[in-house]
Order: sequence, then structure tokens, then C-alpha cells
Amino acid sequence: MTAQRRSGQNVSLGVHYAVHLPAPDDFPFWRERARGLVQCDVPPDRVSWIEPGGTGDLFAQGPARGEKRLPVPPAGAPPVRTSQRFLTVARSAALHSDPARFGLLYRVLWRLQCTPRLMEDMADPEVRRLEELAKSVRRDAHKMHAFVRFREVMEEDGTPHFVAWFEPDHHIVRAEAAFFMRRFANMRWSILTPRGSIHWDGTTMREGPPARREDAPGGDPVEALWRSYYASIFNPARLKVGAMLSEMPRKYWKNLPEAELIPQLIAGAQAREAAMVAAGARAERVRPASLAEVAQGIAACRDCPIADCGTRAVAGEGPSCATLMLVGEQPGDQEEIAGRPFVGPAGQLLDEHLARAGIDREAAYVTNAVKHFKFAWRGRHRLHQSPTAKEIDTCRWWLEAERVLVQPRIVLALGASAARGLLGRTLNVTRERGRAIPLDDGAELWVTVHPSYLLRLDGEARAQQERLFAADLAMVRRRLGEA
Ligand code: URA
Repeated sequence: MTAQRRSGQNVSLGVHYAVHLPAPDDFPFWRERARGLVQCDVPPDRVSWIEPGGTGDLFAQGPARGEKRLPVPPAGAPPVRTSQRFLTVARSAALHSDPARFGLLYRVLWRLQCTPRLMEDMADPEVRRLEELAKSVRRDAHKMHAFVRFREVMEEDGTPHFVAWFEPDHHIVRAEAAFFMRRFANMRWSILTPRGSIHWDGTTMREGPPARREDAPGGDPVEALWRSYYASIFNPARLKVGAMLSEMPRKYWKNLPEAELIPQLIAGAQAREAAMVAAGARAERVRPASLAEVAQGIAACRDCPIADCGTRAVAGEGPSCATLMLVGEQPGDQEEIAGRPFVGPAGQLLDEHLARAGIDREAAYVTNAVKHFKFAWRGRHRLHQSPTAKEIDTCRWWLEAERVLVQPRIVLALGASAARGLLGRTLNVTRERGRAIPLDDGAELWVTVHPSYLLRLDGEARAQQERLFAADLAMVRRRLGEA
């Protein structure tokens, strides 16, 4: 490919171009400059890609001898060929800390112009290297998701602020900000790293300069929570030290409060395994001491695959000494956005019925059997998916923890998933409604249908089911009066 053939522009021999990137993770900037250079037929060996602070900064005052301002593609220059695969891999690889990455990206983009299927050739050393860079960046991001640990500090006005220290291998901090924003949307937090910091105040994301470890707080009660959470999920029956070290490399241990436990957990694993077999896994867990700890615990819980949908956990809400506990299935789309249970259409119907039955929702503790929203994308919509029995059973531990803390006298399960969450077995709602089922702590469990079931019905069928639902609530109201 020659200059004349591609653009007709005469790029003189021997001229070297230096591209100064404004930030080490600025992929859009690289892409725009790379496109222009390809359109002007500038071969890879005549371009240097220089990051801030890189040696190329010597030229930052302007073009040095033998360097030129970047050429401007002529009007009507042929479009640049690329591929979806290249863009996906390049977006990640650009965040790698290897200073040669932008040069490599440009070489591959250059070659794509003549070999459009280059990215499919895994035997090609440059393609392979690009894939390796992208993989290592993805792994770094995964570690960041898993190992960021917040410490709570109080601001002057008494608001809690959660601060974490993390040392990424690559320039992933800005790229991963959205993940933490979604996951901890309601918290004020900062993540400090030697490559820059990000700060979220509940509405706005700000970027800050690189930080030092000493800038982050050392330890606080949130650490105790992590330690007890980790101890509770540590399953000695699954202990594989090699795999554990590769998943949780020692490098991260110093930031992880729970890592302190690793030696003793490994040492005690066999004894604990025997004890678990004897006593059952639930006895091994350390129960949260407050509803706030439950909320933090469920936000961090990854015991079932639903949490990997990337949605935030929705904690229960209501007085911690409520006499009545209402249990639904799982948060829906609107609940996940609001971070509160039963605020969408099913919640509105429930509210109407509660009001008609004379039950004060504000006095009840409202929660769900499963704490994360399980969904599948349909176009731009998130479509509710029912949790499996296994997922409900996995989340039961949190529901139990809430029940132990709130100690309601009456529990109303809305639908079969809620009933399973409370009983650990499937029951037939139609057969069991209208009578109390005793729970292990002496409380009464009542079951009825889920309000979203009513929403799916029309006409007489709906009117009939609404009457039955109202009768179930009236019964609960009566028992509340007696309790
Ligand atoms: N459905 C549920 O079961 N729970 C909610 O919080 C909302 C809808």
C-alpha cells in the first residue's frame, strides 16, 4: 500500500510523526488519530505514540527535528477498514500498561487495510499479543470488581463516606467507574489508586489525581463485616489452595480484611469440613448483627449467579421491630433502579390492597426471598426471569437473617417463591392459603398469591382473584390485631 494509492497525499519519506496522548487510557483519541494517519498512508514505523509522562514528552513543546505535525486526511479519503472484533479487543488492550500497546494497535489497524480478516488469525504474533493484552486487562478489571474493599469514614456533616484503596496493573480505573457506580449507587464512595482516583457522591462522578496508600483509611467496622462475610462463605469442602491463590493473588491480600483469615481458615479446613457435614452448612455462617450489615452483605454476596447480572441488591425496608413481615419474590426492574422493594406496578397494587385491608405498609418490614433482580434483555428492556429453587435456597440465608433480626409475629409470603424462601420447600399456594403455618420461632406464616399474578389476569378472573387476595389480607389484618 503506498501513499499515492490510498490517498494521493504525498507523505515525504523520513518524516516521523509523534502523537501525544492526553491520557494513557484515551482510546477514542488514539482511534481518531490512527484513522487519520491510515487515511494519509503513514506507515507504522513512522509514528510514535507517546503517553503523558512518556519519554516522547521531550517533544511536547512542538515538533522536533525530523518530526512533523500530523497530516490531515484529504477530503474523500477512503474509509478505514476495521472489524468489530478488532474494536472490542483494541478497546481493552488500549488500557494495558505496556508502553508499546498503541504502536501495536496501529500496526494491526494498518495491516487490517489489506487483510480484513487478520483478527481471525490466531497464529499471527501481533494478533495474539493484542488478545493477550486485552485478556490481561479484563482480568485486572475482574480483580478490581472482586477485591475493592471500602472503609467507612465519617464526613464532617456525619455522612458516611466509603473509601477504598486498590492497585490495578493497568489503566482500568476510569473504565471501571461505571461498574462501581451501578453497584454502589446509593453510597458516597471514593476509589483511590496510584493511577488516579474516582469519587461518587450519589449523583456525580468525579476524577481525581493518583493517590498513595496512606491517603486511604486503614481499618474500621466495615472490615469486620467483610471478615465475617468471608468466613461465612468460605467452604472448606471446596478448598483448593492453588486455585484460590490464582483467583485471589497474594498481591491483593494486604487490602483485604478477610485475607487475614486465610491461613487460619486453611489450617482449620478439615476440622471445619467435618463439623459442616455434621452440623449443616448454615450453622457455619456468622449472622449479621444488624439490618445494615444484611444490606452490606447482600450487596457483596455472589453466592448465586443472579448477582452476576450486574444489578444491585435490594435490601428489605421497614421498622426493625415490625410485627408483620411481607415477603415478595425478587426486586423487579423498577425496584432495582429505586433500590427499594415493591415500588413498581406490583408494589402499587399491593399498596392499594394493604390500604383497603387496613394494613399500614410503613409499619411492616417489606423484603424479598431473592435480593437481586434476575432478568434477560429483550431489546432495550429487562425482562423478569423467575429465580430457580436453588437460587431461592441460596438466598434463604439472608431472609432468615432478616427474620431473626426483625422477629415478626406474622409473616405473609406473596407467592410460591416467597414461601419457598421462608420454608425451604415448595408448597401449593392455592391449597395452603387461608391458614397459618407455624414457623420455627413460633411466628405464623400466611401465604397468598403474588400481586404480579393479579396484574396478569383480566376481567372476571382478575376480579375473583383480587377478592381472594383481599380475603387473605383481611385474615392477616385480623391476626395482627390479635398479636
Ligand atoms: N416483585 C417482588 O416480588 N418484589 C418486589 O420488590 C417487586 C416486585
